[in-house]
Amino acid sequence: MRAFRLTAPHLDGLRRSDEPVPELAQNEVLVKMRAASLNYKDGFYLNGEEGIQLPRATIPLSDGAGEVVAVGPLVRRFAVGDRVVGNFVQDWIYGPIPAHAVDSSTTLGHGIDGVLAEFRTFHEEGLVRLPQNLTYEEAATLPCAAVTAWNAVRNVRAWETVLITGTGGVALFALQFASALGAKTIIISSSDEKLARAKHVGADHVVNYKNDPDWHLRARELTGGRGVEHVVDAVGPDTLERSIAATAREGTVHFVGLMNPKGALNPMLILGGTVNLRGVRVGSRKLFEEMNAFIERHDIHPVIGKRFAFEYSREAFEQQVRGAPFGKIVIDIAGDRHA
Ligand SMILES: NC(=O)c1ccc[n+]([C@@H]2O[C@H](COP(=O)([O-])OP(=O)(O)OC[C@H]3O[C@@H](n4cnc5c(N)ncnc54)[C@H](OP(=O)(O)O)[C@@H]3O)[C@@H](O)[C@H]2O)c1
Repeated sequence: MRAFRLTAPHLDGLRRSDEPVPELAQNEVLVKMRAASLNYKDGFYLNGEEGIQLPRATIPLSDGAGEVVAVGPLVRRFAVGDRVVGNFVQDWIYGPIPAHAVDSSTTLGHGIDGVLAEFRTFHEEGLVRLPQNLTYEEAATLPCAAVTAWNAVRNVRAWETVLITGTGGVALFALQFASALGAKTIIISSSDEKLARAKHVGADHVVNYKNDPDWHLRARELTGGRGVEHVVDAVGPDTLERSIAATAREGTVHFVGLMNPKGALNPMLILGGTVNLRGVRVGSRKLFEEMNAFIERHDIHPVIGKRFAFEYSREAFEQQVRGAPFGKIVIDIAGDRHA
């Protein structure tokens, strides 16, 4: 089968390989991968010393969807022909992330091989069914960015306001989910063009953070001085203090971003503002399934920004490193982009 492996933490380390189709264990499912998608972290892994070093020559990418083509004799959850997508942390079923998985040792494309290959075996517990309204390509965008966004906003109420930083993968899903939950949404971006597109996706208010670096004050203005009930901060230390300053008393900053892992935070902002600061890390299989039901119910379709054929995977990574377009970058593994 055709696959890619990341043999070293830079673009030239991404190598095409030809490998045997993996053998099926008794409780595993063999999936013919149809599509995969990229996230910020996949560019970060290429970042040499600044990035996270993957443990070995790993098949990259955590996010991929495909069709079940064989099942082991003990498999009960899936049958041949089912449309499935892998859960980011393979053995995180429900509740908080299990202690043994905190080090990413069971995360696809990190501690274990990912999905950028024609076939992959999964333990049957590591998969969920596609939302019925989505194509393989659309569903391939869900495991990291969408589940993280859902984890952040799932308890938002219709009368609340949600501020979202940037227009990246996590941010656009957070916008779509918060809008479908009925909340008022404010989104910030460096680009007026992306902001115009965010309005089409459902943003009620938009702020260009390059032109208006005091966007936290603008958020207060837009909420009658009260502040927003929720911020989805998908950036990190560069935005966190402003995110807290934009938040209403007893509101919550859902902290997702790790773009700049270093940085200091003035703790008085949290105390003075009586703001809750919540770390969000992707999500369990249960959250993934709950989100898929929500996606079906509201007929939500992920925003896809760029598509690449499998043989052009290197170009897909280059695009991610250059800066994500508006919408997810997807790789068509099986050459059937309309399936
Ligand atoms: N905690 C978790 O489990 C988890 C899961 C997924 C991702 N993440 C992290 O979340 C972050 C976003 O991931 P992603 O995949 O959504 O990234 P992405 O698709 O590459 O998008 C990044 C976006 O961040 C925005 N941005 C950059 N600097 C900004 C700033 N100073 N203020 C406001 N927005 C800014 C940009 O928006 P504009 O172009 O509109 O300016 C950019 O498009 C990354 O740090 C990633 O590692 C964490």
